Amino acid sequence: MARVFSGVQPTGNLHLGNYLGAIRNFARLQDGNECLYCVVDMHAITVWQDPPELQNNIREVTAAFLASGIDPQAHIIFNQSRVPQHAEIAWIFNCVARMGWLNRMTQFKEKAGKHRENASVGLYVYPNLMAADILTYKATHVPVGEDQKQHLELARDIAQKFNNDFGQEFFPIVEPLILDSAARVMSLRDGSNKMSKSDASDYSRLNLNDDADTIALKIRKARTDPAPVPDGSPDGGDRSTRPEAFNLLEIYGALADQPVSQVQKEFGGQQFSEFKKALVELAVEKLGPIGAEMQRLSSDPSYIDGVLSDGAMRARAIAQPIRDEVYEIVGFLRD
Ligand code: TYM
Repeated sequence: MARVFSGVQPTGNLHLGNYLGAIRNFARLQDGNECLYCVVDMHAITVWQDPPELQNNIREVTAAFLASGIDPQAHIIFNQSRVPQHAEIAWIFNCVARMGWLNRMTQFKEKAGKHRENASVGLYVYPNLMAADILTYKATHVPVGEDQKQHLELARDIAQKFNNDFGQEFFPIVEPLILDSAARVMSLRDGSNKMSKSDASDYSRLNLNDDADTIALKIRKARTDPAPVPDGSPDGGDRSTRPEAFNLLEIYGALADQPVSQVQKEFGGQQFSEFKKALVELAVEKLGPIGAEMQRLSSDPSYIDGVLSDGAMRARAIAQPIRDEVYEIVGFLRD
């Protein structure tokens, strides 16, 4: 039995990429593992968040976890700021990680953009907090989308350096669980950009709380090219020449739990307008119930708040003794 940890930022606009790349896999890993799934509110504030909206978004991510089938009794669902051990261990990791390592993080460069001098210090040390999230529980397995791979490599480097510096095999080495299919869902408007919460165009993504009409409209408007659906032959092109076409095939495959080759067998050579009809039907069938359940749950915030509070209590019980050992290893005096 492995201990699984993963997190999702409560920054609004939860989308199909978050679901297929991460949350659906969270649910699938429940059998035979001990799972902790965290709404990472402390990560969210590395860029500005409106306080009342942040509260709503924390509840929305929790609702998405529950609606996707995560069992909050058998496993732990909580929000990060309620478990202070994350921040305590993150400070130690700020002193373990090297500036050079953080300077290589592509996500900081993307998010800070041209305004690097004006980015928060929190955004810069974000990956150290992420390493702390995982290692506060000595979790070994971390399901994420492809875009988190570099951060997880850093978590491994931090664990290794801590172990070397203090001469003990204390932290485990983290295994990223990046499933091949849908690890990188791309924007519906531009196949060279990943589907993202922060894209200005809502047409770039399918949100988990979109209703059936909105899902249909967004898929109908999704960008493709004039050629028919690729059929697997060399004439059908590949991901590099037809990124939008292959993105839709991959989305279909992930939703249907089929390899892309199977989708190509079924739809190859057809017009995209026909394929899109099938994709709308499938997306509504799979996402509709999740959106409806999220809606139902959001009408009862006290249930969600109870799940988070109970989860945090159980998370603290695991985190506290590990934090105590870390403090001892580092040489702090404590009660
Ligand atoms: P976040 O909130 O940006 O995204 C949550 C999860 O969704 C995945 N994801 C995608 N997968 C496929 N295609 C996409 N277009 C797509 N967009 C997002 C992400 O890879 C992620 O798994 N830093 C993390 C949160 C975090 C965390 C952690 C994760 C904080 N601490 C500890 C694991 C372990 C993040 O910003 O995810």
